[in-house]
Formats: sequence, structure tokens, C-alpha cells
Amino acid sequence: MKALTVSASILGADFARLGDDVRAAEQAGCDEIHFDVMDGQFVPNISIGIPVLEAVRRMTRLPIDVHMMVGEPGRYAGMFAAAGGTMFTVHIEACADIRATLDAVRRAGMQTGVSIKPATPVNAVIPLLSTIDRVLVMSVEPGFGGQAFMPESLPKIEQLRKLADQLDVKFDVAVDGGIKVSNAPLAARAGADTIIAGTGVFRYPNGIAAAVAALKSAARTESSR
Ligand code: DX5
Ligand code: ZN
Repeated sequence: MKALTVSASILGADFARLGDDVRAAEQAGCDEIHFDVMDGQFVPNISIGIPVLEAVRRMTRLPIDVHMMVGEPGRYAGMFAAAGGTMFTVHIEACADIRATLDAVRRAGMQTGVSIKPATPVNAVIPLLSTIDRVLVMSVEPGFGGQAFMPESLPKIEQLRKLADQLDVKFDVAVDGGIKVSNAPLAARAGADTIIAGTGVFRYPNGIAAAVAALKSAARTESSR
């Protein structure tokens, strides 16, 4: 059975004590930090950017996945790599030339992720699967934390898992949006390698450590892989 990767989305953290929250997530056993960048154009919200990433990089040794909810994100690959990004996840809907964008990400020295919004079919990423490190399936409309998980994302995760087996290619299947202890088992059973959670980690009633333990064990209970 493969262990589930838990990625903590700092959009759900308390920004007044971000260092403490990031360190608590790392100590609790989170495997990755998820860093949401929004431009107010591709999504109707503006979040955080390069100076905050530099600060987060100093707070943790964990890999940082930079989730770019930004039009033409390739323009910023070099800057986010220099600020400490490990993986750079772009939206296929936001790139006129996705292959050129991914080339820019690789040239900057980061791993490549491609995200699809709820309305975008898995078919859109099939030609890219042999060349990228992760597909990120959005299980909410990107733009805001704290939204309800969309179960329509589950068949997309299943389809990606099947494609990985059929095509015999290795890429990580991640799911982002509304993930909680209650639905993490569904995502794991569908075939997710990585679950990304903001509210579910940082605003769990019993605290961050309990949240991460519960997410990991909920997934273990249900995952047959
Ligand atoms: C949504 C972001 C998500 C968000 C997840 O646009 O991409 O990463 O922070 O937050 P929760 O877990 O609260 O849905
Ligand atoms: Zn995200």
C-alpha cells in the first residue's frame, strides 16, 4: 500500500502566525506545503506571492508546491524558483502554449504540475502525462479556501489512475479543494496520491497535529493500494 502524501495549503493558515502554522504542519507529519497564488484575473481573488514564498521557504524544509492560479504563469517561473518553489503547478486553462510553459518551469529547475478546473476534462492533459510530475484535479472552483468538496472530481481521479497504469507512465495524482477527514478516504480510494487541504489541516477543531494524523489514517483505512 502506498502512503498518501498530505500537502498543507497555507491559504487556510493564520497569516498573523504563519511561521508557527507552517512549523506545526511540518511537525505533524505533513509531506508538502501548498502555496496558492492568485492574480485577480484567472480567478476572482488575489492571495500571496513571491515575498511570502521567500519567508515560507525559510520556515520549513518541506517541498513547496506553488499552485499558480494566474494567467500565463510561465512568465514567473524563474522568480518563483529563486524564491524557493519546488514544484510549479499551472492551470492548463491559463496557458496559450502549455508545452512552452512547462519548458520554462523545467528550465527554472522546478518540477512540473498541471491543474484542471472542475469543468476541464482529463482528456485535456493526456498528451502531457508522460512529461509531467503531477496532475492536480481541482475539487472546487479555484479562487477561495473553505469551499465544499465536489464529488464530480472523483471519476477524474479514477480516470487518471487508470491512465497511469494503461500508459505505464509515472505522475502524481493530486486533489485540491474541500478535502477533510470525512472525504479524504474517497479521494484515496479513487486513486489520489496526494491530498491538499487548507481548512482541513489548519482549522481542524482539534488542532493541526490531530488533523494530519486523522487525514493520514482515514486514507489508510480506505485505501486498498
Ligand atoms: C483553492 C485553492 C486551494 C485551497 C484549499 O483555490 O487552490 O488550495 O486553499 O483550501 P480548502 O482545503 O479550504 O478547500
Ligand atoms: Zn491550491
